[in-house]
Amino acid sequence: MKTIMLVFGTRPEAIKMCPLVNELKSREGIRTLVCVTGQHRRMLDQVLEAFHVVPDYDLSIMKEKQDLFDITTNVLNGIRSVLEKERPDVVLVHGDTSTTFAAALSCFYLQIPVGHVEAGLRTYDLMAPYPEEFNRQAVSIVSRYNFAPTERARQNLLQEGKNPDTIYVTGNTAIDALKTTVRSDYTHPELDWAAGSRLVLMTAHRRENLGKPMESMFRGIRRAVEEHPDVKLLYPIHMNPLVRQTAEAVLGGCDRIRMIEPLDVLDFHNFMSRCHMILTDSGGIQEEAPSLGKPVLVMRDTTERPEGVAAGTLRLVGTEEERVYRSFSELLDDQAVYESMSRASNPYGDGFACRRIADVLTRE
Ligand code: UD1
Ligand code: UDP
Repeated sequence: MKTIMLVFGTRPEAIKMCPLVNELKSREGIRTLVCVTGQHRRMLDQVLEAFHVVPDYDLSIMKEKQDLFDITTNVLNGIRSVLEKERPDVVLVHGDTSTTFAAALSCFYLQIPVGHVEAGLRTYDLMAPYPEEFNRQAVSIVSRYNFAPTERARQNLLQEGKNPDTIYVTGNTAIDALKTTVRSDYTHPELDWAAGSRLVLMTAHRRENLGKPMESMFRGIRRAVEEHPDVKLLYPIHMNPLVRQTAEAVLGGCDRIRMIEPLDVLDFHNFMSRCHMILTDSGGIQEEAPSLGKPVLVMRDTTERPEGVAAGTLRLVGTEEERVYRSFSELLDDQAVYESMSRASNPYGDGFACRRIADVLTRE
């Protein structure tokens, strides 16, 4: 019996790892264990509930206004005894968070093989996304299995000298998740609020955007919303108090902008499938939107997900007020631009990534 432990701690990791937990649990010959770090609390628990995943271990590390030292040291200190007790045959980590990095480092210290889900994404700019680009590159140094979502991600790993036999192109498990959540008969009171208007969905939380860049992009967005009376903007707001302060200050008091608590993943995916367009600095949303054919303005200068830009769904618009305002207005006003960005495509996979990852782990 092979023991596989999945370690994750934030909302996006959970959304992309829970379908894999459930796939692995359905396989014979594998003992599947889940260790959550609790880097996020409510935003993590929302996802665990949605996918009916009950962790075997919960390190509960989240503190208000935690910084990178807090997360990294608390994961390292918390996970050590779990790994020493269980001695898994493989530990799976996901993507690029501080949980991911610290868990992989812990495995390296204990010489436990690491499998990296969503491996090989790169900007090659260590400051953007910060600190995620570092986390991804660092995990690649120690990982034994690299589950690359796309051919492009595989090429990045090959160029860095990774052994080709350790790389598997699987698609992104985000698409597996999306296939289980979007429903044709879905309704929600917030969607009723937007009925008859063009609904714009927004999220924002990137560390490098906190403060001035976020203020600036919110100002551009508010101007465009105010000039378009048929637009309503819904913003399920990240629980980071620094994000909330800026959002209230710049976006508050406009009756066509609604800020609400983070949506459950099932709700968010259905909102995405019904909205007119999306404004975001999120990573995961850049993967989901092309599948749904929803135009996305990405409020960043660079992306580790260029496949969605190449597919035409994503456009990088940075955070500077005037540029955000103009790009947003153009997408609202120019039907040809809107249509060219609204074609559904699947650069991130066919929804069977979990099956492929489980096949590799069962086989080897
Ligand atoms: C983290 C990841 C980022 C990912 C994001 C997903 C790192 C360094 N960053 O950033 O890659 O895109 O998660 O959302 O790992 N908070 C709560 N409750 C929650 C969640 C967060 O109160 O359920 C608050 C806490 O005050 C916390 C703050 O949000 O201090 C920021 O959370 P943190 O995990 O430190 O960073 P994120 O910006 O969420
Ligand atoms: N999401 C959600 N509820 C929300 C906003 C986003 O479930 O209110 C989902 C979204 O569909 C995507 C993931 O959260 O799957 C993205 O997470 P986030 O933006 O927090 O992190 P990132 O992807 O940037 O690391």
